[in-house]
Amino acid sequence: MTENSATPAIANIKTIAILGGTGDLGGGLARRWSRAGFSIVIGSRTQDKAQAAADALLTEFPDLNVTGDNNLDATKKADLVVLTVPFAHQISTLETVQPALAGKILIDVTVPLMPPKVGTVQLPEQGSAAQMAQSLLGDPVQVVSAFQNVSAQHLNEDHPIACDVLVTGNKKAAREQVISLVEAAGLKGWHAGPLANAAAVEAMTSVLISINRHHKINGAGIIISGEPKT
Ligand SMILES: NC(=O)c1ccc[n+]([C@@H]2O[C@H](COP(=O)([O-])OP(=O)(O)OC[C@H]3O[C@@H](n4cnc5c(N)ncnc54)[C@H](OP(=O)(O)O)[C@@H]3O)[C@@H](O)[C@H]2O)c1
Repeated sequence: MTENSATPAIANIKTIAILGGTGDLGGGLARRWSRAGFSIVIGSRTQDKAQAAADALLTEFPDLNVTGDNNLDATKKADLVVLTVPFAHQISTLETVQPALAGKILIDVTVPLMPPKVGTVQLPEQGSAAQMAQSLLGDPVQVVSAFQNVSAQHLNEDHPIACDVLVTGNKKAAREQVISLVEAAGLKGWHAGPLANAAAVEAMTSVLISINRHHKINGAGIIISGEPKT
């Protein structure tokens, strides 16, 4: 295992569970965070599938600390949990792990895409997928929304990614921790305001999908301009 690249903001985060980490987006995060030195538990509905995903990473990088487990046990083992399943299964997946989430940060990457019109913004009545998650989980869980605008394909390739990550959440300290994790994954993260602002970030993904299609771009991203005053 490489040395954990954690900054002080995330010194308390050793183990990250990635629910649905057998898929494209979660697999990319597992790859990047495990290589940054975090202990990763890949979560799945089935133990065998989770273990197979972990084994695939270990075949490529034998020294990593990666295991697989069912979503609930993965959640129990983790200091921080990431939800990476399609929108249609967001709430049902959270319901299966809810008791084990109390006191933890949940990073929700969900984009409320409603096939077949994935290039059209279609936000849920509650405003955003992230707000739906926070509403279900309540005060015991701090939901932070991130990674909606990053292509999974880029995350799974070992090159710098030309896309920033807009991080929304109701608590600045929780956003701070997630921004440190974004940086550990090799990207630039920005405080993008409260969870209500996740609607704009989630909507942007459909805009990017439309840009990809029209301009034949393989995973367009967004970059924030401007120099922060120090
Ligand atoms: N792909 C991208 O480029 C991208 C970019 C930004 C954000 N996102 C968001 O990231 C999330 C995951 O996207 P993805 O492309 O990685 O999805 P995906 O590969 O299609 O699916 C991810 C995982 O979801 C789980 N899953 C599938 N059906 C399920 C069900 N009925 N109930 C519970 N879990 C189920 C599966 O895990 P198990 O079978 O192992 O349980 C699957 O491996 C989505 O919300 C998406 O909007 C994706």
